[in-house]
Amino acid sequence: MTSHKINVALGERSYSVIVGHGVINNIDDFVPKMAKRAVVVTQKNISIQPTLKIESTTVFIGDTEEHKSLTTIEMLAQKFAEFGLTRNDVVVGVGGGMVTDVAGFAAASWHRGTPVVHVATSLVGMVDASVGGKTGVNIESGKNLVGAFWQPLGVICDLDALKTLPPREMRCGLGEVAKYHFLTGDDLLELEMSARIARCVEIKAKIVSEDERESGGRALLNYGHTLAHALERSSNFSMAHGEAVAVGMIFAAHLAHAMKRISQDRVDEHYSVIGDAYGLKVKPDETIDRRKLIQLMHLDKKAISGLTFVLDGPSGIEVVSGVSEAHLEQAFDAMQLSEN
Ligand code: GLY
Repeated sequence: MTSHKINVALGERSYSVIVGHGVINNIDDFVPKMAKRAVVVTQKNISIQPTLKIESTTVFIGDTEEHKSLTTIEMLAQKFAEFGLTRNDVVVGVGGGMVTDVAGFAAASWHRGTPVVHVATSLVGMVDASVGGKTGVNIESGKNLVGAFWQPLGVICDLDALKTLPPREMRCGLGEVAKYHFLTGDDLLELEMSARIARCVEIKAKIVSEDERESGGRALLNYGHTLAHALERSSNFSMAHGEAVAVGMIFAAHLAHAMKRISQDRVDEHYSVIGDAYGLKVKPDETIDRRKLIQLMHLDKKAISGLTFVLDGPSGIEVVSGVSEAHLEQAFDAMQLSEN
């Protein structure tokens, strides 16, 4: 079956992302020649696992967001030490975005930097989390506040893993896929799934190659994420990331409209791609607490000079700082959200 190979061009740290069915069998191509041992970091419910030629051990991490923590990093470091993992060896993260973020950060900090290979098994992981080298964990004050940029040696997106992906997780991935429609204006809907995933990876690879450390264009990948992170936290993570991103993009469209940056037609296009084409929820099930959400949005990593959003506008999607609370209120009103 056809597979796709995408290059993430980062000079001597460039690597490939392979998308296709059964591509997990190519894992040895990514294992460094000098590696003698591998630690596979994964979760109990992951349906595919690699078979490695070198000596390996598997460490399971917890399933829920509370395990994306410094405590898990310490546990992994302890396991690495017990197994005798050196800086010439390799960590292999096998799972969704949470696993690859945690495995990547553990690898980045182990002996100040140990190679890592990612096997993405969720749609979010394939089109976003596993590509681009962002790794990290949450602390009480916010999501992904402690982390490092640590590029993998390669990424495998094996579509066989999607066969058993729970429908809710699939929908979460579609939230991130929908994001790429607005970033590029591409009609991704006309592509079949493996080509669509490969195209998302290609768009992300280009953005990351041009701005690895997010000093410019990479921030656009956070479209819909300012409200999304606040919704996730205020719901105590009962709202999943992709679901929150879908709602966050609808909110961003209303906000851009309130600020007279886009027309009502463009807002409607958001509803038709996110709600109609991808079947995603366009508002949270639960009632919301606007004050709490606004407070959380002030804590966003982008909010260096006031409330900051990635917003659509006459020259496309861009980072906009100093957004007023009055405009946020207008956007909340336009979404007709029920409040508690
Ligand atoms: N998930 C956004 C980024 O990788 O920059």
